[in-house]
Amino acid sequence: MTEVMIIGGGSGMGFALARVLVAEGTDVTIVGRSVERLDAARAELEQVGSGRVRTGRADIGREEDVAELFAGNRQVDHVAVTAADATGVYGPTALASTDMARSVLNTKLLGAWLVGKHAAGKVTGSLTFTSGINAYRPNGSNTIMAAANGGLASLASGLAIEMAPVRVNVISPGWVDTPIWNQLGMDKQAAFAELSQRLPARRIGTPDDIAQAFLAVMRNQFITATVLHVDGGHRLT
Ligand SMILES: NC(=O)c1ccc[n+]([C@@H]2O[C@H](COP(=O)([O-])OP(=O)(O)OC[C@H]3O[C@@H](n4cnc5c(N)ncnc54)[C@H](OP(=O)(O)O)[C@@H]3O)[C@@H](O)[C@H]2O)c1
Repeated sequence: MTEVMIIGGGSGMGFALARVLVAEGTDVTIVGRSVERLDAARAELEQVGSGRVRTGRADIGREEDVAELFAGNRQVDHVAVTAADATGVYGPTALASTDMARSVLNTKLLGAWLVGKHAAGKVTGSLTFTSGINAYRPNGSNTIMAAANGGLASLASGLAIEMAPVRVNVISPGWVDTPIWNQLGMDKQAAFAELSQRLPARRIGTPDDIAQAFLAVMRNQFITATVLHVDGGHRLT
């Protein structure tokens, strides 16, 4: 691998993926909305290896931003998408704001579609989206996020046909300790201690667990139109 773009790479799972890649000498472009977050991530990544680190400011929900990411002649080997804004998603549908629902669909599902649209002809190896366990084990909350996550499997299958031989896959994480939990206003460590006992793996996932899964589907040239579950056995509970 020589160059990977990670949309959402400024933190969490995307950052963990960038870290592994840069450490092994692969060039990365990390993309997000906050320039400060991206600059801090780049400074940290530049300490871990020889891969070149670029940053790109873009909101995945805005077509002009996504088009700009792929403008010009430069090609990338792989694109990974981890971007999601989960602000306000938790709670029953009857009480949920419709603006929040549109925002979730606009960024997580339509944003992934925009990446497929504008990365066509620019990505040579693979495109990997991130869905989530709630598509497969709905919990009576954040139902719109579950719907967006479920839709990503169908989107990846369709794009795997359209973009072939570029491969298109989905990683479906279970509970993983990343900054996204900070938006939920809970005692994260207490919650994780309780949640981990429900899982066959008896622990919460780490960002690196997910990074390794991304690498597996990027590198295995016979995996396409696949959802890889990396959830500690959560679907069995
Ligand atoms: N952590 C879990 O337990 C878990 C479980 C299941 C699924 N997931 C999924 O895993 C993915 C990665 O999440 P994470 O846990 O690594 O969380 P995270 O640390 O919050 O990472 C999300 C990243 O996406 C970026 N982002 C958010 N909205 C964006 C937008 N509109 N355009 C471009 N970038 C945007 C954020 O940066 P900016 O704010 O600077 O844009 C941030 O760097 C998400 O799709 C999430 O739904 C997470």
